[in-house]
Amino acid sequence: MANKVLVTGGLGYIGSHTVVELMNQGYEPLIIDNLLNSDISVLDRIEKITGNRPEFQQVEMRDKEQLQEVFWSNNNQIVGVIHFAAVLLVGESVEQPLHYYFNNLTSTINLLECMNEFDVKSIVFSSSCTVYGNPDQLPVSENAPIKPSISPYGNTKKVCEDILKDASIAHPLKVVSLRYFNPIGAHKSSLIGEFQSGPPHHLVPFITETATGKREKLNIFGGDWNTPDGTCVRDYIHVSDLAEAHINAMEYATKQSVNSFNVFNVGSGDGYSVLEMVKSFEKTTGVKVPYEIVDRRPGDVEAVYADTTKVTNELGFKTKRSLDDMLKSAWDWEQALAKE
Ligand code: UD1
Repeated sequence: MANKVLVTGGLGYIGSHTVVELMNQGYEPLIIDNLLNSDISVLDRIEKITGNRPEFQQVEMRDKEQLQEVFWSNNNQIVGVIHFAAVLLVGESVEQPLHYYFNNLTSTINLLECMNEFDVKSIVFSSSCTVYGNPDQLPVSENAPIKPSISPYGNTKKVCEDILKDASIAHPLKVVSLRYFNPIGAHKSSLIGEFQSGPPHHLVPFITETATGKREKLNIFGGDWNTPDGTCVRDYIHVSDLAEAHINAMEYATKQSVNSFNVFNVGSGDGYSVLEMVKSFEKTTGVKVPYEIVDRRPGDVEAVYADTTKVTNELGFKTKRSLDDMLKSAWDWEQALAKE
């Protein structure tokens, strides 16, 4: 039986962890990536972890012919697609909106056209809890209203969900969109994790870089939010847990009837404040993180964490790794990177 899964952006942070999980569960991932946000060394690293080298092709998805060639040479072998490939920096998307819309939308449309042409039906899409904006109710469920996006990046996630939904009505597709909360941490081997080119973009790499002494202190964006300790609350999920959710989602998609579109929150269901993250990190690692509370960051939401009822009941997915596991693995990864 064919068990090849096309993984777009499979050398990126979440993509690489998902490829490892697919291989652990007996799937044969076919990675395509344009290497814009990723490093080719990830392929060797995946091979070290799993003992097998996944198939890889450097492909620019904005060029439909390149993508067609992938589908053509794997005709009747691809059981489904997991679509990670995207540009994803919020600040950069404000400066380069056209690049963001062109890249994220064109690659998704080209992919859907190829799926139709080559009769591949199942797709799992990387969406984000950013579509909920500042939610009116917590925990936030999949039925919560979609809010106007603060950034072009966030809007590409919303528009791609709309494209997938409309396409699933008109074409025989089985779509699952996963709305990720905040993925953190790294694989237990410390061989793959979130690579930073330049300053980090997310909280935990800022914490770990401050802990190594690379940064003098962590700036905490706002101490006057309407939360128990005044700092923002998020739902952090171990990237390996998030990776596993993609296998559940792929299997769920293939079992659906055609013309289906389903969205799921993928988070732990627990909200932690920025200060709680700092304190937990210090407790878990025994390393101090100097910090200062500074002004709020424009565009931040106060608090968001997932209602996980639907993902638990329908996908059978539950996170296994604790906050300690997440922070410990992030710290191990930071130290492994420092040694390289
Ligand atoms: C960010 C993106 C979001 C994206 C998500 C996952 C922004 C505004 N939002 O979410 O669109 O879907 O990543 O990729 O970038 N913090 C500090 N100090 C720091 C860094 C962060 O206090 O140096 C705080 C932030 O204010 C926030 C929390 O830590 O409250 C988490 O921040 P971050 O890791 O950047 O993720 P989000 O903003 O939740």
